[in-house]
Amino acid sequence: MNLAASLGIMGKKVILIDADSQGNATSGLGVDKKGINCSLCDVFFYPKKINDALIDVEFENLKLLPPGNKLCKVEQEFEGDNNREFLLKSALEKLDVGILPHYVLIDCPPAMNLITLNALISSNYVLIPIQCEYYALEGLSQLLSSVRQVRQRKNSSLGLLGVLFTMYSKRLKLTIQVENEVKKYLGEKVFNTTVPRSVRLSEAPSFGKPIAYFDKSSSGAKAYLDLAEEVIHRCQ
Ligand SMILES: Nc1ncnc2c1ncn2[C@@H]1O[C@H](COP(=O)(O)OP(=O)(O)OP(=O)(O)O)[C@@H](O)[C@H]1O
Ligand SMILES: [Mg+2]
Repeated sequence: MNLAASLGIMGKKVILIDADSQGNATSGLGVDKKGINCSLCDVFFYPKKINDALIDVEFENLKLLPPGNKLCKVEQEFEGDNNREFLLKSALEKLDVGILPHYVLIDCPPAMNLITLNALISSNYVLIPIQCEYYALEGLSQLLSSVRQVRQRKNSSLGLLGVLFTMYSKRLKLTIQVENEVKKYLGEKVFNTTVPRSVRLSEAPSFGKPIAYFDKSSSGAKAYLDLAEEVIHRCQ
């Protein structure tokens, strides 16, 4: 959500797909989940609906595709369907020319399920945010191996855009340990930008605003603008 808004501020047209059934990116952008009648869930069933399901949020250059409250049922509904991993990809191919964005960001659920697989198959890049904590390291190696498998079997153009450290604090020994460990394996894949632990960042969603709009002079806002710049550079 914060990266999407920052890319928008930098003049890039962005579609943010909230693919997590919790819908945190949706409520964080001030969108009331109850008022939604077309969502990512409908797009899985009728790919063309992607054009109707996009919501113009009040932030520059940004459109949102909300998850819908039945997203978690998609997995069961498509069981046994050979095409089930390619549904989001075919929906994205049906975007109207008039709304083609510079970037499509897909916020994935924290699990390797059918929705995440659809996201990986639709994408050119993966961006992995990791909290500077021990468990994040365990999750990282699992995720990297899933990304490798998807690249080998289903989407050869899938690349790792980078790893982003969040909740970063140079004063904490654990932050430094996690940073060193990740850099040992992924070196230059680690973004130069780090996102600090910040109260303003945790407050922003409850006001329905990305950090760059909620408190543009905060360290968090600066971090996400720096990240947007790095992302643009790496995608070129
Ligand atoms: N740098 C930060 N400093 C302080 N709080 C943060 C920071 N980043 C995120 N938070 C807060 O932590 C919570 C979880 O953040 P976020 O939604 O980005 O995590 P996530 O990894 O996507 O979670 P999930 O796995 O549930 O999808 C949010 O309430 C957010 O406001
Ligand atoms: Mg999340």
